Amino acid sequence: MTVSLEQLRRCHFAVDLGAARTRVYVKGAGLIVDQPSVAAVNTRSGALIAVGDFAEQMTGRTPGYIRVVRPISGGTVVDIEMAQRMLRQLLGDKTRRQLRRNLRLRAAACTPHDADPLAQRATIETLVGLGARRVELVDTLIAAAVGCGLPVERPEASMIMVCGAAATQVAVLSLGSIVTAERIPVGGEAVDHAIVQLLRHDHELMLPSQSVRPLQLALSGNGLTPQGPETTEIHGRDVATGLARSVRVDTATVREAIQTPLTAVLDGIGKVLRDCPPDLVADLADRGITMVGGSALLPGFDQMLREATGMPVHIADRPDICAAEGLGAMLEGRVEPLVLNPLAA
Ligand SMILES: Nc1ncnc2c1ncn2[C@@H]1O[C@H](COP(=O)(O)OP(=O)(O)OP(=O)(O)O)[C@@H](O)[C@H]1O
Ligand SMILES: [Mg+2]
Repeated sequence: MTVSLEQLRRCHFAVDLGAARTRVYVKGAGLIVDQPSVAAVNTRSGALIAVGDFAEQMTGRTPGYIRVVRPISGGTVVDIEMAQRMLRQLLGDKTRRQLRRNLRLRAAACTPHDADPLAQRATIETLVGLGARRVELVDTLIAAAVGCGLPVERPEASMIMVCGAAATQVAVLSLGSIVTAERIPVGGEAVDHAIVQLLRHDHELMLPSQSVRPLQLALSGNGLTPQGPETTEIHGRDVATGLARSVRVDTATVREAIQTPLTAVLDGIGKVLRDCPPDLVADLADRGITMVGGSALLPGFDQMLREATGMPVHIADRPDICAAEGLGAMLEGRVEPLVLNPLAA
């Protein structure tokens, strides 16, 4: 996957198809779509009922004939046709008309670090279905590093960690390229899942998906470090009776449950550091790790990394949109053409 900045500058729009959220940057207009990667379909007629935020609100609340689907899973487009329909709806008629005015419409997209050829093909096909005649792929790690303003083109190491919904990607970058990288299949979804499972096992409570975030927030302030409030009240449904019930949950046990998936992330960081040349590791001791991606906002995650690695850890401004903004910066030609070429390892 090698693409030059020159080719990217000729793209008209860029898409970040995430497991949780879809983002679209249109050249000259900026980030115009940032919505959940969700579509609600009428199974009787096949019609699309809603996409994005509306469709997400329907999750778990639909009558039998409406199905809420996620066309992107694990960082890969798993249902190309549905992803195209979702994107068309998210873009809206006006933007699509504007894009179609370009005779040879070009698109850019970011793909996970070790995306296999099939996954790359699925992303390309999705955008071709939207009218793109040519699609450039950029490694998410590079797009995110550019988006959060890391000096990737310099001959010194930067470490970036993209904390997505389906996966966490960690890399050391230098001279505009990836030196070592790891993709750990653990992200925000695994953390949410750990919390849901804990409540099911320890309290026989089924937790609606909307209640996971408030519970995470109860850990905030002091985050994953053990000084937050001791218990917090949470509402759900009793597994046996099916009736609504609320329980007081011990925040320490929630913290513990969250630690398990996050340990895999720590292992991944260790592997990247071990594979990295010593000179670059020395740079990293001062510069530390920059966290991007929505799950970087998980309360206390940064503190846990600081304690485990002994390195400085920063969360980027607006970490969730860094990859899309990075693609945007490349489209607009706001990236130094010095070294960022080739873009991906
Ligand atoms: N404030 C927050 N606290 C904790 N977790 C959060 C917060 N905001 C977002 N998340 C989590 O971040 C994840 C979404 O992050 P992001 O938008 O980077 O994912 P994505 O790009 O769609 O996924 P991927 O890159 O893995 O395909 C979700 O799992 C969500 O639960
Ligand atoms: Mg992402």
